[in-house]
Amino acid sequence: YVIGVDLGTSAVKTVLVNRSGEVVAEHSESYPLSQPKPGYSEQRPEDWVDGTVTSLRKLMEESKASPESVEGLSFSGQMHGLVLVDGEGAVLRPAILWNDTRTTAQCRRIEDTLQGQLLDIARNRALEGFTLPKILWVQEHEPQILEQAERMLLPKDYVRFRLTGQYGMDYSDAAGTLMLDLARKAWSTDILDAFQLPHSLCPPLVESFEDCGTLLPEIAAQSGLLPDTRVYAGGADNACGAIGAGILEEGQTMCSIGTSGVVLSYEERKEVDFEGKVHFFNHGEKNAYYIMGVTLAAGYSLDWFKKTFAPSISFDELLSGVQDIPEGSGGLLFTPYIVGERTPHPDAEIRGTFTGMDAGHKLTHFARAVLEGITFSLRESIDILRDSGKTIDTVISIGGGAKNEAWLQMQADIFNADIVKLESEQGPAMGAAMLAAYGSGWFPSLQACAAEFLRESKRYTPQPQAAEKYEELFGLYQEVYHRTRELS
Ligand code: XUL
Repeated sequence: YVIGVDLGTSAVKTVLVNRSGEVVAEHSESYPLSQPKPGYSEQRPEDWVDGTVTSLRKLMEESKASPESVEGLSFSGQMHGLVLVDGEGAVLRPAILWNDTRTTAQCRRIEDTLQGQLLDIARNRALEGFTLPKILWVQEHEPQILEQAERMLLPKDYVRFRLTGQYGMDYSDAAGTLMLDLARKAWSTDILDAFQLPHSLCPPLVESFEDCGTLLPEIAAQSGLLPDTRVYAGGADNACGAIGAGILEEGQTMCSIGTSGVVLSYEERKEVDFEGKVHFFNHGEKNAYYIMGVTLAAGYSLDWFKKTFAPSISFDELLSGVQDIPEGSGGLLFTPYIVGERTPHPDAEIRGTFTGMDAGHKLTHFARAVLEGITFSLRESIDILRDSGKTIDTVISIGGGAKNEAWLQMQADIFNADIVKLESEQGPAMGAAMLAAYGSGWFPSLQACAAEFLRESKRYTPQPQAAEKYEELFGLYQEVYHRTRELS
């Protein structure tokens, strides 16, 4: 077996996977998120370690697998979160997470100081979520903490350090710090020097499938594994989501709808310039990249809608009639900007809308309009990728958005592409397990692993009339952002 550990924002999930790619057991342990001030989002790194060790122990207990049968494990991690440790490896302050938005002033400072260099080197714009703005925030507000800091780590790299005793950061996650020279695969001296950051803060860089040692004896004892279980570096959750969906060649695209929504394409050209319109990160595959657009409130919009307007019914009940409402929800249009937006509008201030309400509309019209609005937002990312020269005729759909038939068909109609649903899809946890399987030498390549592990379950093709109707509505949807900016 191999184990995939997916260190998420609300929970850590572990999966035990056999040589055919079947998930024979899985276990999740949740941990708290603290919001000490508006816009702040922090977690205790110790909670991640406890959650991971407990989850591994329960996975082993529940599966009854023998510890000898586990050859290796690897990670997928929530991106960008800042963990600072001192010379002894002790954590100096709570981790500042990807969804913490306190760093707008630091983002301006980065853009003003580096100007065009930022896009040339890090290939991304400065966004509140990324790691460098968080380090600058600590530099400005808690200088004594930064002085004590020996290393800067990302969430899953901290957990791997605690499991193995070794520091390291893989390229796919390092790309989200804004300090990596993305094409050269090295820490950027220019960026570190521009902000007087010691180079020693940055851990050694490794490939996602690289062997990073074995479990420390006490960790092995606590988690029910053997100390010689090999640990492979792992990757950013989006890179692992891509691997777990088989996005391993040029021309492959996925759409992942969870709390946020992501449209992600494989990219083999490191020289292509997306002008910062989409995120551009290193893949977990060697010398490959991916580009992605993000809808901040995807599943979150649906959660918010249900919690606010239909708290007493289940999601299944809320969505049960949406397939019977015609495309366009009877004139009702929703924009999902309830917490701002990232792609194509990096705008933290914009807020969402419902327009076209009619006295005859029922709850189901609103539910369908919410699904359509989320999917229109993701179509904007698809268009940026298409405009850059990508052919997107098939999209692998994963996450919560792949659990509802009507929503899958809607994605086909709005994206004007075939939508593929996978059999027993596991998201980033599967990508992590695949990195461990490849690292352990089970397969000659990640592609060969995907061919064995991943199977198509169903395909949804665009319906011409619906696609045409959506094409018209999409034009209107795109207008709403510009017409409502002043409301926010
Ligand atoms: C990506 C991002 C999120 C986190 C979620 O830029 O901020 O997708 O990785 O864990």
